[in-house]
Amino acid sequence: MNILILFDSQFSNIKNIAEAIGAGFDSQDQVRVLAAAKVTTKDLQDIQILVVGSPTQGGGAIQPLPVFLERLSETALNSIAVAAFDTRFLEEKQNGALRLVITIIGYAAPRLAKQLKRKGGTLVVQPKGFIVEGKDRSLADGELKKAKNWAQRIEENTGK
Ligand SMILES: Cc1cc2nc3c(=O)[nH]c(=O)nc-3n(C[C@H](O)[C@H](O)[C@H](O)COP(=O)(O)O)c2cc1C
Repeated sequence: MNILILFDSQFSNIKNIAEAIGAGFDSQDQVRVLAAAKVTTKDLQDIQILVVGSPTQGGGAIQPLPVFLERLSETALNSIAVAAFDTRFLEEKQNGALRLVITIIGYAAPRLAKQLKRKGGTLVVQPKGFIVEGKDRSLADGELKKAKNWAQRIEENTGK
């Protein structure tokens, strides 16, 4: 299968997750991991799976990924299996006020997943959040492994 993984990253966490997802697909697949700033609609040609990811900032995804998706036609992702992920803080580890805000405003992945569906994509797994923590905002232990496993679920559910 031809698989495109698009990511938006201000720092490196999403990129590392995107690469781990890429490594989780079958070795016979053709996997491209591409920064959203470089994507064009040509990159969507002949793909069977599209995975997109962004850090959560202010409850949503950062640009340019949402703008790129919004500009696609409503049939652009027809017959493409799609999935969305983000990186985020773990709600339970935040103090009261921040925790409440995070809960109310939500996360990037569900928003990206809605966009993908609006453009005709078939969502094959639920949107997934990977956790960053600590003052240096690095990935929590085990998140890269989870990313690989998540890729395998996408592959299984795509069933091509
Ligand atoms: C300006 C800003 C806003 C943020 N807003 C949120 C938020 O609303 N919810 C959340 O869970 N994390 C939030 N975070 C934490 C980021 O999600 C986290 O640092 C990021 O996912 C790490 O990925 P990256 O290294 O690829 O940027 C925010 C971080 C920044 C810098």
